[in-house]
Amino acid sequence: MKLSQARKDYYRKLAKNEGYRSRSAYKLKQLNISYHIFKPWNKVVDLGCAPGGWLQVLEEEIGNRGKVIGVDQKEVYPLKFATILRGSIEDPSIVEQIKKILNGPADVILSDLSPNISGMWDVDHARQISLTRTAMSVVEKLLRKGGSAIFKVFEGQMLKQLKDDLAVNFKSVYYSKPDASRRESSELYIICLNFRV
Ligand SMILES: C[S@@+](CC[C@H](N)C(=O)[O-])C[C@H]1O[C@@H](n2cnc3c(N)ncnc32)[C@H](O)[C@@H]1O
Repeated sequence: MKLSQARKDYYRKLAKNEGYRSRSAYKLKQLNISYHIFKPWNKVVDLGCAPGGWLQVLEEEIGNRGKVIGVDQKEVYPLKFATILRGSIEDPSIVEQIKKILNGPADVILSDLSPNISGMWDVDHARQISLTRTAMSVVEKLLRKGGSAIFKVFEGQMLKQLKDDLAVNFKSVYYSKPDASRRESSELYIICLNFRV
């Protein structure tokens, strides 16, 4: 068995044993260990949250001390504390609903958004960058000054421009590839700290 497949299986089994809905939960845990993103009183928005692995991690970190809001086009089975909205982040009325529930600016906004994968690499890259740019516009509307954001992205020719654009809005911007993300996948995360407004 290839090492990459073994790692994938390892996190899949771990998620099953520990009761997480996705192995993605470990990506967020690892990013939080590296960058100390969450505080218990935070208001956090999770864009592209289905099936809810990241929301489970947010419930552990924040619970009902702050606020956790998840958004996805797909149905997400309810969790204890998180508010879950079903719809597209490309729909302005969804952004209005998030705003109402937040009742003030968000401290952290996460995007693990992925389009349906066509298998055509350029098409998938362009679609994912476009989704991320929509997530950026949501961040510009909802994040507080000094707040943080994480965006999932895929390597490709449009990535550098995206990172440069994020660097205009945030004081610190880093690429990060958590161990739970498959080595052979072009997926990585952009960690954005200290929003300038
Ligand atoms: C990789 S999954 C997220 C996994 C999640 N972080 C977890 O831990 O369970 C990506 C999600 O993005 C969602 N998505 C893609 N485009 C979207 C859009 N325009 N609006 C809302 N959700 C979207 C998909 O439905 C999918 O559930």
